[in-house]
Amino acid sequence: MTTALAIAGLGAAGLHLYKAVLRHPEVELVAVMDVDPAILDVLRGRVPILTRDFEELCTSARVQAIFIGSPTPLHLPQALAALDHDKDVIVEKPMSTDYESAVQLREHARRTGRVLVVGHSQSFEPFVRCIAESRQRHDLGGLRRLVLSEQTDWMTRPRTPEELDESLGGGPILRQGAHLVDTARYLAGGGPVTDVTASGFAMDGAACHGSFVASMRAGGALVTLAYDGYGPNVGDGQSLSPLSGEEAASRKGHLNATQLAQATDESAGPTAGGGSPPAWVMQRAVLAVYERGQVSYDSTSGLVRTVRHDRRAHVEDPRLLSSGRTALLDELIAAREGTEPLHDGTWGAENLRVCLEMAAAARDEGHGAGRATSHQSTNSMREWR
Ligand SMILES: NC(=O)c1ccc[n+]([C@@H]2O[C@H](COP(=O)([O-])OP(=O)(O)OC[C@H]3O[C@@H](n4cnc5c(N)ncnc54)[C@H](O)[C@@H]3O)[C@@H](O)[C@H]2O)c1
Repeated sequence: MTTALAIAGLGAAGLHLYKAVLRHPEVELVAVMDVDPAILDVLRGRVPILTRDFEELCTSARVQAIFIGSPTPLHLPQALAALDHDKDVIVEKPMSTDYESAVQLREHARRTGRVLVVGHSQSFEPFVRCIAESRQRHDLGGLRRLVLSEQTDWMTRPRTPEELDESLGGGPILRQGAHLVDTARYLAGGGPVTDVTASGFAMDGAACHGSFVASMRAGGALVTLAYDGYGPNVGDGQSLSPLSGEEAASRKGHLNATQLAQATDESAGPTAGGGSPPAWVMQRAVLAVYERGQVSYDSTSGLVRTVRHDRRAHVEDPRLLSSGRTALLDELIAAREGTEPLHDGTWGAENLRVCLEMAAAARDEGHGAGRATSHQSTNSMREWR
């Protein structure tokens, strides 16, 4: 039985899902909703329902489930409306802008009895699933310590002021921290997250911390997270050149429509192969220390290495597993068939709570985030001296 899915908001996140949907044998894309007509133009003749009106998705008898990939402040009203119309929902992370509204959404899903899955988030990704599987296969016991580090170019892509505003769910701590916290909790096997501390770095007095470190206890394990959103192309002395909100939105819209057009031309590829990080992830490394051994992953090799305390070593290739978005769609389908999803409203709200604590801790500590401006990186790379 196929699930008839609609995508609401086909930007960067929606595009990833769009590609996964085209490859998924049990999901049919029946509708796309976006306020940007250029997105709908690209899809004309390819998707049965194309609309700028979210309400149309809710009232369509053809739509069974809606993926909400719109800007974060819209997640709550759109998800509530979808649930009210008996649609199952996948909502992007962060689930909402604040903890109270995330709880409101979680409770609404419970009341309506519909499925609510929060994602995509990093624990769906093959390298994380591979680490968790390795722990189980090699009987490594409970997680004791986790060190997770990542560098992306998140801050140097065109961003609107809203996307950098933490009160609207923006900025790397809430947007990218959501992935890291999700992974930490997944590898820790759930359990409470306590003792959250964080410290941030904001280049050139930007509106939010583009880099951060955080530590916490997850399920009792000591977790250290390090994230750099400036990528390798922005050095000391460089600054991110400001864009007006309209300019940033226009560049993003153009980029999204262009990438969608390219994706519609690609033939459907294999569903496996999600082990390599996407191009925008520059570096990623994980070290998970368990009771009876440790598992590590690095994006350069793309491999997961396990060493048990008896010194036996194993190497596994996460690229053999299905992609993260395929796993997300599988979780939606399983939930529609009655299996409780792991990444439900409770999971998503807790991830958000931890990220909000991180953001507050980094703000309190005060390494100068504050000027609300949108931006794009300068192109010139300062000469290395
Ligand atoms: N899981 C991931 O890896 C991942 C990656 C990127 C973004 N995200 C999340 O996805 C959400 C969107 O981020 P993005 O980077 O894709 O943003 P984006 O700006 O690239 O895309 C947002 C899209 O939503 C559309 N939109 C605007 N108003 C809308 C409305 N009222 N209804 C429906 N669509 C509307 C825009 O036209 C645009 O096409 C955010 O919550 C973000 O945190 C998740």
